[in-house]
Amino acid sequence: MSLPKRVKIVEVGPRDGLQNERQPISVEVKVELIHRLVDAGLRYIEAGSFVNPKSVPQMAGSDAVFRGVERKAGVTYAALTPNLQGFERAVSVNVSEVAIFAAASEAFSQKNINCSIDESLDRFAPIMEAAKVAQLPVRGYISCVVGCPYEGAVDPDKVAEVALRLHDMGCYEVSLGDTTGVGTPGSITRLIETVAERVSIHRLAVHLHDTYGQALANIYASLQMGVDVVDSSVAGLGGCPYAKGASGNVATEDLVYMLNGLGIEHGVDLEELIDTGRYITEKLGRVTGSKVSRALTQ
Ligand code: HMG
Ligand code: MG
Repeated sequence: MSLPKRVKIVEVGPRDGLQNERQPISVEVKVELIHRLVDAGLRYIEAGSFVNPKSVPQMAGSDAVFRGVERKAGVTYAALTPNLQGFERAVSVNVSEVAIFAAASEAFSQKNINCSIDESLDRFAPIMEAAKVAQLPVRGYISCVVGCPYEGAVDPDKVAEVALRLHDMGCYEVSLGDTTGVGTPGSITRLIETVAERVSIHRLAVHLHDTYGQALANIYASLQMGVDVVDSSVAGLGGCPYAKGASGNVATEDLVYMLNGLGIEHGVDLEELIDTGRYITEKLGRVTGSKVSRALTQ
């Protein structure tokens, strides 16, 4: 067993976290959240998405958020872009990089982005071309890598096929999304083994929702296999509007606590992060999804 010396944390709270909150959140609060996350040491922030505002109203203000954020050198401010229209909006507010998002399940692809998996990959081609011209890196996501809310169990070979296509299109990294959080260290290990036969493990990230309480165990299993990029969400915020009942991503506070215990570098100050989690949960009027935060602040 060998663990990475350093893990890159991809903070998705301002996007994946806030996209699923019911009450409106002001641009000012989103901007302040991003500033605080950066101050806590996070160096990769998924700050918004440029999708149809009718589909995900919480992300409608992403243009204003990007304009409002004071950029710090060395920090990546990323956004989801489902099509060229979204990409152009993203470029106009000076994003550092974009992410395209596909699924390993046909039904989820239809519900989420209103097209088949093949059609979605075709739709991403012009984004890849435009990103090349604009010299913007593109990250790829795959949803439903273990299970789908509509189709049930998902075949790891299907995930590997989509991962290879995203990689071959030019995504520098593919983030494997357990959207419904049904994975266990058993299924996640089998999944990563299968995908890594097609795409180098060094180009894979994990994005694990904690619906079944398995996320940290699954991350640990992934680290043991050589994955060293992990997506997480401050205070465990979030879910997916198209996966009913799916809870947030693994809480960044809990991930940082575990990495500290393992002696793995990450660059984040746990106390400042916990304060940031408290800031946003107070604004949202909800309890934190981070057990570490609850344990350390009671
Ligand atoms: P569509 O209906 O096929 O698109 O939607 P369309 O091209 O036919 O356009 C329909 C309308 O949307 C038009 O407006 C367009 O202008 C508008 P209308 O004429 O009706 O007024 N539109 C846009 N507006 C602003 N920005 C855009 C844009 N594109 C179209 N970029 C589309 C296709 C993908 C756009 C739509 O289905 C959509 O926006 N879906 C949202 C999907 C989403 O954001 N899901 C959540 C994020 S994914 C996720 O959470 C999973 C992840 O975390 C990993 C995991 O956990 O698994 C990443
Ligand atoms: Mg997600």
